[in-house]
Amino acid sequence: MTRRAVVIGVGHYLPERIVENAEFEASLDTSDAWIRTRSGIERRHFAAEGETTSDLATRAAQAALANAGLEANDLDAIVLATSTADLTFPSAATMVQANIGMTRGYAFDLQAVCAGFAYALTNANALILSGQATRVMVIGAETFSRIMDWTDRGTCVLFGDGAGALILEAQEGKGTSDDRGILATDLNSDGRHKDVLYVDGGVSTQTTGFLRMQGKEVFRHAIEKLAATAQAAIDKAGVTTADVDWIVPHQANIRIIQGTAKKMGLPMDKVVVTVQDHGNTSAASIPLALSVGVERGQIKQGDLVVTEAIGGGLAWGAVIIRW
Ligand code: UT7
Repeated sequence: MTRRAVVIGVGHYLPERIVENAEFEASLDTSDAWIRTRSGIERRHFAAEGETTSDLATRAAQAALANAGLEANDLDAIVLATSTADLTFPSAATMVQANIGMTRGYAFDLQAVCAGFAYALTNANALILSGQATRVMVIGAETFSRIMDWTDRGTCVLFGDGAGALILEAQEGKGTSDDRGILATDLNSDGRHKDVLYVDGGVSTQTTGFLRMQGKEVFRHAIEKLAATAQAAIDKAGVTTADVDWIVPHQANIRIIQGTAKKMGLPMDKVVVTVQDHGNTSAASIPLALSVGVERGQIKQGDLVVTEAIGGGLAWGAVIIRW
């Protein structure tokens, strides 16, 4: 018998306010046509004034608990991936813990920018496989609207706010690739590329800062690194690309999503795409897409799902899940 971390619940939350591309035309030298054709984004959600990352994460966590039919105290841990926590400390995860009424276990944040959910899943999987937890809530939640430079058309039209959550539970599998649960993970980072995507502020500099990106440079790395990490994870899982039912990629740019699928030899009808409606929600993009993919009836129990993401660091990775 092999212990596996199996997805038993999923949920998401998007702030009420939807901003269409055309809204940016009033304040910036940009157009709906440019944003659509260069990124695939049509609209995004922005959090209301006073609405924080932990608020979005709490709503997603509550949806995942309801989906799983669980109470908060059925959880052993919360792992929350974010680069936009409410406060410097305590963690947004502990705020979610209190908000959902979880009075046991432990909660912490983890930061790997857009690759954050792949890192969070990998860490939650390790907690479960090592016997340190039986049920873990894994959340990706962001309010990137708070770190936008609204005068920089090269970045501020690309990002959005939102949250998604999965609940993983330890279950016994046979040790084969037919098992439900996380079958393999692959993480990478290369700090030499820190200047292509970063925020020019932080606690130690006593500023909040704004997101800065050399979009073309990130693009240049993305397809190759995403296809390579996905392949590495597929190999570790003992499956082949032909076995893959769904790619659920980080939703940054439709051209990166298409290029990665093509490089992996998979058609776009096997890709869950939400970038048109959410924009780039950083660590929230994969759990949002997983939850929407389930809601749309795309992802079903038993399907082989490949998630892959890249972002600031650079940090990138992939996770193979038998749903
Ligand atoms: O999630 C973290 C990972 N991040 C990513 O994966 C993002 C990766 N990069 C990208 O998605 C793309 O590089 C962008 C969507 C950011 C940009 O697309 P691009 O095709 O690489 O365009 P570009 O940056 O080369 O810009 C082309 C032109 C430039 O004008 P010139 O220099 O050719 O005259 C830009 O100034 O488009 C201009 N431009 C815009 N025009 C209208 C840049 N932003 C805008 C805009 N509206 N919003």
